[in-house]
Amino acid sequence: MMTQTTQQAVIYEVIGGAPTIARLVDRFYDLMDSLPEARELRAIHAPDLTETKRVLRLYLAQWMGGPGDYSAERGHPRLKSRHMGFPVGIAERDAWLHCMRLALEDTVPSAQARDAIMQALTPLADWMRNRPEG
Ligand code: HEM
Repeated sequence: MMTQTTQQAVIYEVIGGAPTIARLVDRFYDLMDSLPEARELRAIHAPDLTETKRVLRLYLAQWMGGPGDYSAERGHPRLKSRHMGFPVGIAERDAWLHCMRLALEDTVPSAQARDAIMQALTPLADWMRNRPEG
């Protein structure tokens, strides 16, 4: 779990807490909705993303060292097993990270914070893969 930057500050606070995460998650799914390179990734998500957005907001807040509402509501994240029902291959991983990188650029002004977040999310997204490739 990601809780700290190298300066020992909680990244959740560094980027501005809940309002920033709400903007980030909205932008992330808007990009997934509109980018041609994310079309297949979008297609395996629910048609209505309202609940998906709500849960990703809770998860990211907790993962970044903010309030633990995600686990209070859903228990241990068990993210890999929660993704087992969806095909996560190299293409899906890369499309997910691509949308996240662009969403961070649009909503988190600090390049240092963006880099720290992407560095921690990249192995997490890779670990989610459940197809026998690469
Ligand atoms: C670091 C990478 C990722 C993180 C942090 C993440 C996080 C999450 C979270 C928190 C949920 C909700 C789980 C719950 O119900 O408690 C979720 C759902 C989901 N994720 Fe991911 N995920 C990642 C990568 C991916 C990738 C690469 C795919 C590609 C297939 C993917 C596809 C999905 C789908 C289809 C759902 C269900 C959403 C819905 O029902 O609309 N995720 N993810």
